[in-house]
Amino acid sequence: MKKVRCAVVGCGVIGPVHAEALSRSERAQLVATVDIVPERARTLAEKYKAESWYDDYTKVLERSDIDAVFICTPHYLHSPMVVDAARHGKHVLVEKPLATDSATASMAVTACKEAGVRLAVCFQNRFNPATSAVKRAIERGVLGDLISVTGNVSWYRPEEYYTESPWRGRWETEGGGVLINQAIHTLDLLLYFAGDVRSFSATLDRLGHSSIEVEDVASISMKFSSGAIGNFFASTCSYPGFDVRIEVTGTNGSAVIEGDKLTYFKTITGDTYSLEEEDSDLVTAAKSYYGSSHPRLIEDFLDSVINDRAPLVTGEEGKRSIDLLDAIYREYRQQCAK
Ligand SMILES: NC(=O)c1ccc[n+]([C@@H]2O[C@H](COP(=O)([O-])OP(=O)(O)OC[C@H]3O[C@@H](n4cnc5c(N)ncnc54)[C@H](O)[C@@H]3O)[C@@H](O)[C@H]2O)c1
Repeated sequence: MKKVRCAVVGCGVIGPVHAEALSRSERAQLVATVDIVPERARTLAEKYKAESWYDDYTKVLERSDIDAVFICTPHYLHSPMVVDAARHGKHVLVEKPLATDSATASMAVTACKEAGVRLAVCFQNRFNPATSAVKRAIERGVLGDLISVTGNVSWYRPEEYYTESPWRGRWETEGGGVLINQAIHTLDLLLYFAGDVRSFSATLDRLGHSSIEVEDVASISMKFSSGAIGNFFASTCSYPGFDVRIEVTGTNGSAVIEGDKLTYFKTITGDTYSLEEEDSDLVTAAKSYYGSSHPRLIEDFLDSVINDRAPLVTGEEGKRSIDLLDAIYREYRQQCAK
């Protein structure tokens, strides 16, 4: 099988998860690692026997023997790096969020289209078996007409989480707070299940952290294009924090996902669900709340490059949550400025 020759850019917390998945993939070869902190790039290259490491990402763009770059840097660098990589003919997998706002998200999507390269956004939870089971049930009408889709991300991050990583907690570098960083995965799943948001009412605030500019708590009421209505709550100051919870109700059935497990599924006709793949055979190289689906999303991206097809989470798909957040943040920042 042809192997996609890959480079991981950004070797902080999540870069190693990508490197681990690439090292185990039959479809990929990890060729290079990059970080502005040279020691991080070197350590990761040595661990996975990548042939090169750099402290300047343009070096991998100049190499004609690298097919794809995996962008694992802070949020504000995502869109500029995607655009740059596309213009150098590289396929791109970018960590969430695709960009810090709608305008720069569009630039990333357009650049990849114009260059004819594949773009995937790392919403790995779309590949969780529980997500697929609920999505299938909705698509097949098993739950009837959707009535509500709600999400809760009550998490806790100590002050040091922000002070130790200076790009977090700032509008310019993170693009927002709990919504665009921690909760965007769940928000993306609500849109995946219920369609885009037609109207919303949002309350954002900073209640638990004194060192940050952005929101650390948010509540959103939404009307989705499917007709369903929904509520979403997100926080990084709710000690000790709970598993993410998603509830989907319909005229004929309901489902609940807690963490990444389907914990409730009941329909009027007694339909059951099937999880197509068990989680146990997959590696997780990082924190449990990242789930175990990075390898699945990465395999889908590699296969999309090899077989010249769209990945499941395209740039357009990755942009849907950014468009919603762009509108929410615009409103919030206008209120703050008053
Ligand atoms: N999908 C997930 O579940 C998940 C989980 C964690 C993080 N993330 C995302 O991954 C991205 C990185 O997060 P993290 O927690 O690894 O952050 P981090 O701060 O630990 O790592 C970022 C790395 O990028 C490097 N870097 C900064 N500027 C660079 C540049 N110009 N060129 C090369 N390297 C550069 C930094 O030195 C650092 O090592 C963020 O977008 C975050 O939202 C996603």
